[in-house]
Amino acid sequence: MAITIQQLSQWKQQERPIVALTAADYAIAQLLDRAGVDLILVGDSLGMVVLGYNTTLPVTLEEMIHHAKAVRRGVKNALVVVDLPFLTYQESSTQALQSAGKVIKETGAQAVKLEGGYPRMAETVERLVNAGIPVLGHVGLTPQSVHQLGLKKQGKTPEAAERILSEAIALEHAGAFGVVLEHIPVDLAQQITQKLSIPTIGIGAGSHCDGQILVTHDLLGLSDYQPPFVKVYANLQQQVIDAVEQYGTEVRQGQFPEK
Ligand code: KIV
Repeated sequence: MAITIQQLSQWKQQERPIVALTAADYAIAQLLDRAGVDLILVGDSLGMVVLGYNTTLPVTLEEMIHHAKAVRRGVKNALVVVDLPFLTYQESSTQALQSAGKVIKETGAQAVKLEGGYPRMAETVERLVNAGIPVLGHVGLTPQSVHQLGLKKQGKTPEAAERILSEAIALEHAGAFGVVLEHIPVDLAQQITQKLSIPTIGIGAGSHCDGQILVTHDLLGLSDYQPPFVKVYANLQQQVIDAVEQYGTEVRQGQFPEK
């Protein structure tokens, strides 16, 4: 049975952790879905781990839609959420509605994610939600603001922590169905998780969040650089190199294909 946003909020009440990962193509999406992942995010991190950009900033709406369509075709059960890329929603709530509407109509995904909180982004979230588009918020380290924030942990001073907390609250009031908390102190993530009635999904935010998300390429050891909070569960880079080297050797030595 396909997972719904209502189920995520029930799981928060039941303290059943939400398992989330990113995907950018059909094959990986299918594997994540078969492995029982609850929420699959077509994150704009695909710009870095799949398309080879230095940041997420160059990613276009068309690229996100192209990848999201492939992911959607691979998923039967998980909730599919698609990131709105940089400058496809920040200009105005009308721009956000057009971008989010295009994503939902063309990809078949159930929800969109956007970065930032209070006050303007909360207004934008409210507009999308009123139009029937479920929105996942994202506060703390927001990679689309890399040139302002860098990629370092956020919310370390009391003022910064207060700001992130009020952004998360504003997103809940605006109707977001959940909030990603990225790279913030564990106690701040715990405080936000306790304050909100919608689920928090942490990445580098400790174990008190209602769910966890990682970039799948990081978890599988397929990316060149992993943030410090990542646990690498497999070293697929090396496995791919070994397999391809073996293939190369066998072709060169006439062992493959067999006579
Ligand atoms: O783009 C992405 O993959 C994300 C996750 C890191 C949450 O936003």
